[in-house]
Amino acid sequence: MKVDGTAYRSIWSEADGRAVRIIDQTCLPHRFETVRLESLEDTAHAIRAMLVRGAPLIGATGAYGLALALFRDPSDAGLEDAWRFLLATRPTGANLAWALEDVAARVRPLPPAERATAAFQRAGALCDEDVAINYAIGGHGLELVRAAAARKPGRLDILTHCNAGWLATVDWGTALAPIYRAHDDGIEVHVWVDETRPRNQGAHLTAWELGRHGVPHTVIVDNAAGHLMQRGLVDLCIVGTDRTTAAGDVCNKIGTYTKALAAHDNGVPFHVALPSPTIDWTVSDGLTSIPIEERDPSEVQRVWGRTEDGTLTSVAVTPPSSAAANYAFDITPAWLVTGFITERGLAAPDGLGRLFPEYQAAAEQKRTTSHAHHSP
Ligand code: MRU
Repeated sequence: MKVDGTAYRSIWSEADGRAVRIIDQTCLPHRFETVRLESLEDTAHAIRAMLVRGAPLIGATGAYGLALALFRDPSDAGLEDAWRFLLATRPTGANLAWALEDVAARVRPLPPAERATAAFQRAGALCDEDVAINYAIGGHGLELVRAAAARKPGRLDILTHCNAGWLATVDWGTALAPIYRAHDDGIEVHVWVDETRPRNQGAHLTAWELGRHGVPHTVIVDNAAGHLMQRGLVDLCIVGTDRTTAAGDVCNKIGTYTKALAAHDNGVPFHVALPSPTIDWTVSDGLTSIPIEERDPSEVQRVWGRTEDGTLTSVAVTPPSSAAANYAFDITPAWLVTGFITERGLAAPDGLGRLFPEYQAAAEQKRTTSHAHHSP
């Protein structure tokens, strides 16, 4: 997407082929800064400290991180160590494990001297695939938005949570892709942007993205969504996801579940934009199977922002002696989901297996093989 007339992705390879560059999302919306990542440690830090975030972008960054590690140590042990190190950075999203596995599986059979370059190229290809997937999600979601707009005169009000826009992916975004496509097609859309405490990805990133693209939007506090829905001010919810189970349980940013409950209570359609690498085919029950990341309590106790003189700083919002808990994600059960918007089209909550039969079969095959290995 464009920033001040220049087309950007959220991550791209440097001309020397030995590093990548990212947009430092901890500075947005106040400052636009890019950062060069040239090692395993740089990429792991960028993911952990959330200079990059959003499940698909975490996956892309992890893939490049593995390649950068292999430039230094292309041995079997080097590959496995780097893989484990990167996998531990953020535990909840499915895309990181998926991308690391993809790159590792491709380079493992190669002689060590060829691994780094092959991994770097594969990471670039994964980025291109992510862009194509999200563009396709945008197209399928556009049909849904168009149909909703046809049913309602005037502007269409869409609510989204956290940031599932182009900054959370390599480009286009997932939940925001249909909104960009609808806006570009002349459909009158307006977005309610949940601020998304504690890190405010909605207020900081979604609002910035939408504003740069000229999409009308209004930031609301997280607790306002139910009120708006009761008054008929939300026509549609579209959110992203960090991991969705084969049975359609959706793990996404903390607060998604309560939005889905409010949507259900008020008859508002609740759609989840879902690229296939975010599906975890190995599990069905999200509540018992998906690890929920718990982040530093300081993210709850303090809030980041810009002072009048332009300094970026954080201020305390709780008494210093109060404990805080920082659960980063929650689970929305499949029965609260109206439907999924995937790169292959729309799916009912229990319809993912029919849309991606080969992925489901591959996971089943893997499960059977690993059972056979572990039987006495
Ligand atoms: O903690 P974050 O900012 O990485 O969480 C991001 C989200 O929850 C997004 O909704 C999700 O990754 C989908 S991104 C296309």
